Amino acid sequence: MPVAIITGASKGLGRALAAALAGRGWDLVLDARTRAVLDDTARELAGHGGRVRAVPGDVRDEGHRAELVARARALGGLDLLVNNASALGAEPLVRLDELPLEGLRRALETNVVAALGLVQQALPLLRASRAGGGAVINVSSDAGAEAYETWGGYGASKAALDQLSAVLGAEEPGLRVWAVDPGDMGTDLYRAAVPDDADPRPLPHTVVPAFLRLLDERPVSGRYDAPSLLVAS
Ligand SMILES: NC(=O)c1ccc[n+]([C@@H]2O[C@H](COP(=O)([O-])OP(=O)(O)OC[C@H]3O[C@@H](n4cnc5c(N)ncnc54)[C@H](OP(=O)(O)O)[C@@H]3O)[C@@H](O)[C@H]2O)c1
Repeated sequence: MPVAIITGASKGLGRALAAALAGRGWDLVLDARTRAVLDDTARELAGHGGRVRAVPGDVRDEGHRAELVARARALGGLDLLVNNASALGAEPLVRLDELPLEGLRRALETNVVAALGLVQQALPLLRASRAGGGAVINVSSDAGAEAYETWGGYGASKAALDQLSAVLGAEEPGLRVWAVDPGDMGTDLYRAAVPDDADPRPLPHTVVPAFLRLLDERPVSGRYDAPSLLVAS
């Protein structure tokens, strides 16, 4: 069975994606910082068929990233890496004139540096994937492409992640590298970003078919957005 590492998999989009892959029999290595929540998720998903390894830790920690890759290797290799864990930089979000630089550093370290670090550590296994070349999904945001007030620090980190994804796709023609904007979702991250926004947002499981479509059809490396993938499917 194929093997995936999904960061930030205890809740929200990461959990929804993990559930869908577990349902397809994938073996999973899941990460998040809060052990109890991650363990609950792993226990639930283990009932779906594939093997599930919960590895609590912070993606900013190089040793933790190495452990994620080692656990995938122990499951037989790595076919998909999903860099999904993310930091906002300020909760709630604030305008750039107030953004603590430490928050910006945290967003860049989590959303960009850690994502590339995990890619670097995972590349040997991804290149050797038996599934016709491994795939990387870097979870992006429209905040990386549009100028929304207060989303500047987080958006800058997602723009950087998009560019890393694009260059990685050019440098690794044997892999698929997809930066994916999932669109707004009603998750803890969104509520922390904009606590006063009472408008209902789609739940994460509703965008998962867009991600599955990428895995099924394996389009060329590039930037995709879930709403377009869902409309076209
Ligand atoms: N929600 C939206 O509207 C929206 C829109 C566009 C893009 N996105 C993107 O979608 C992705 C998923 O977000 P979500 O809305 O599903 O968020 P979420 O529900 O808050 O889940 C975030 C997950 O990441 C984990 N995490 C956070 N920081 C981590 C770290 N340093 N190391 C390891 N795990 C970490 C969290 O667990 P712990 O806190 O226990 O570590 C949790 O499992 C993110 O990349 C986000 O930028 C979301």
